[in-house]
Amino acid sequence: MALQGVIDALKRTNLQEIGVSFSLADIMKDLRIEGNNVYIKLFSPSEKYYDYLREKIYSTLKPLGAENIEVEFSSEPPVQRQTQPPPPPPPQNPFESRRRIPNIDKVILVASGKGGVGKSTVAVNLASALKKLGHNVGYLDADMYGPSGPTMFGAKDRKVMAKETPEGQKIIAPEAHGVKIMSIGFLLPSEDTPVIWRGPVLFKALTQFLFDIDWGDEKLDFLVIDLPPGTGDIQITLGQTAEVDGAIIVTTPQDVALIDVKKGIQMFNEVQIPIIGIVENMSYFVCPDSGKKYEIFGKSKTEDIAKIYGTELLGQIPIEPKVAEFSDLGIPIVFAKEDSQTAQEFINIAKKVIEKLSKKGE
Ligand SMILES: Nc1ncnc2c1ncn2[C@@H]1O[C@H](COP(=O)(O)OP(=O)(O)O)[C@@H](O)[C@H]1O
Ligand SMILES: [Mg+2]
Repeated sequence: MALQGVIDALKRTNLQEIGVSFSLADIMKDLRIEGNNVYIKLFSPSEKYYDYLREKIYSTLKPLGAENIEVEFSSEPPVQRQTQPPPPPPPQNPFESRRRIPNIDKVILVASGKGGVGKSTVAVNLASALKKLGHNVGYLDADMYGPSGPTMFGAKDRKVMAKETPEGQKIIAPEAHGVKIMSIGFLLPSEDTPVIWRGPVLFKALTQFLFDIDWGDEKLDFLVIDLPPGTGDIQITLGQTAEVDGAIIVTTPQDVALIDVKKGIQMFNEVQIPIIGIVENMSYFVCPDSGKKYEIFGKSKTEDIAKIYGTELLGQIPIEPKVAEFSDLGIPIVFAKEDSQTAQEFINIAKKVIEKLSKKGE
């Protein structure tokens, strides 16, 4: 049996029945073929998948003529496929291998140092504001640890369809409030899926996933990517995989959050992604009875930090109970209450983003 034939057959499989978007080749750790005897080692995070995976191997390899098939398992995710030819020498510049996501004009990352600062709220409303300003917009929720974007767009239960294209299978992004949306959460099977699937292996899938989405026939003017929180490997890998036009960092006014802003700025500098600016969320509260403005977390230092690092504060979003309320209802505040101060603030941020990105492209 030919090695390449076996690998190709493994690549053509999918493991959707256990709710993951890989092929057997993606989870393969070792493969040896002698005549018609096959030894294969697979990654599996839990024993409960052993029988399924073994059956899948048999049904894939038997038709190719495999006689004795030995399957072993390991709980260590595959680091690198061992059966592939050795990788080409690394390019001089680690970012040279970046690819442009097809059919998208500007790709914007929305990042934050930690969860809960309102990153998704900002990403969803920025996408909505760009749409409101007449652009063709996509939103990608890449936060595998808490994909909340679809809920905020009222599209949590959308079924995701795939289609065949000359470039292979593509996942079709459904539309909500006129925005094309896709979420890693649509592909995450269920709550009891082991976290390890969501970790390194899933991330490897995410970088591929970025290129496998069908955003519709019309070119997107903007794609807003809601990143997982933090400044670690995921953000860096993404920065090395896809060409990105700019990043926005979301923070709250507290000092602890601002430490994360510095880390975020440093990280984007390292991966050579331009920073569009900082959005401060939960900046103040306006008492609905008296109209008085309260700076609950104290006087903001975000503007100073932005200046020190050569970037700008794009806007300050107040704490507005309606923001959370409409998010839960699945209508971004930009659409639900467009004349509110909060919605106007998001529109102004979107205008600044457009301006900054169009200058850069000149
Ligand atoms: N400006 C705001 N006013 C009121 N509630 C907000 C505001 N921004 C975010 N929230 C609420 O705070 C929670 C966390 O926001 P979310 O956008 O999910 O944060 P992250 O994506 O950073 O984890 C959500 O329940 C959201 O509705
Ligand atoms: Mg979020």
